[in-house]
Amino acid sequence: MADADTAASKSYQADVAQPKEPFFLKGSNHLDWGLKNRLANIFNPESGRTVMLAFDHGYFMGPTSGLERVDLDVVPLTPHADTLMLTRGILRTCIPPTYTGGIVLRASGGPSILKELSDEEIAISIDEAIRLNVAAMAVQVFIGGEYETRSIHNMTRLVDMGNRHGIATLGVTAVGRDMARDAKYMRLAARICAELGATYVKTYYVDDGFETVAASCPVPIVIAGGKKIPEADALQVAHNAVQQGACGVDMGRNIFQADDPLAMIQAVRKVVHESFKPSEANEFYLALKKEREEQGRS
Ligand code: 5RP
Repeated sequence: MADADTAASKSYQADVAQPKEPFFLKGSNHLDWGLKNRLANIFNPESGRTVMLAFDHGYFMGPTSGLERVDLDVVPLTPHADTLMLTRGILRTCIPPTYTGGIVLRASGGPSILKELSDEEIAISIDEAIRLNVAAMAVQVFIGGEYETRSIHNMTRLVDMGNRHGIATLGVTAVGRDMARDAKYMRLAARICAELGATYVKTYYVDDGFETVAASCPVPIVIAGGKKIPEADALQVAHNAVQQGACGVDMGRNIFQADDPLAMIQAVRKVVHESFKPSEANEFYLALKKEREEQGRS
């Protein structure tokens, strides 16, 4: 039998209004609870930013430098990432299911580096994405590429599937080898992804006018790291991007190909979440690297 409700007076606090907290992430206030909850597993609600560790490159590049042994070389970095961006093959084989950060699953694929890269299809079913408990699905969008329309269509289908189940879609702007990587291109590509439903967008940082790319995109932008550059320069790029409106980084090669990947990811965190200046972050990186070398680094 249920307990009798005997309290003489109750605390309804009728004079206290229920808080109406806006959601912390740009353009996301009107999304449903499940989608917001997943986004809060990608972006840190306190800083509003994310360090996504991208190591999905094998889906078209094979075992590229730094990713020969994901189990040995990348898994130790994962506790320092807010989110992992990877393929389902690597997720199932290498990532312990006890990992509780966000999972952003590579959801498009097809051609290898030997072929036309824009010739992609959707490479996952929504059932599989749900089974893997992912926070977002990532799809390549080739604006200006040979298969531009198909890649957009891949994205819009994933947006439809994801929205039905509260799973975010990351539109990844992929720039063809012969295209200008400038603000004009990034504005065009990011805006098309956002207009057609991407929950958030990945672009590259551009030196001139990145703030216009971020400002004209109504959803959060994260930047890819791109080809490996010196650690100090990569920290400068991450700093510039977040100071100019990016909500974080989706960085791969500049972390896992760094001289000391474990020190580098921690330095990137300092820039993204604690707004360290690039010089401070580089000093932090070098000090941590030295300390680890002295300890015989693992
Ligand atoms: C591959 C990707 C990568 O995940 C992305 O380019 C980030 O990696 P990097 O920092 O190495 O550029 O989307 O297509």
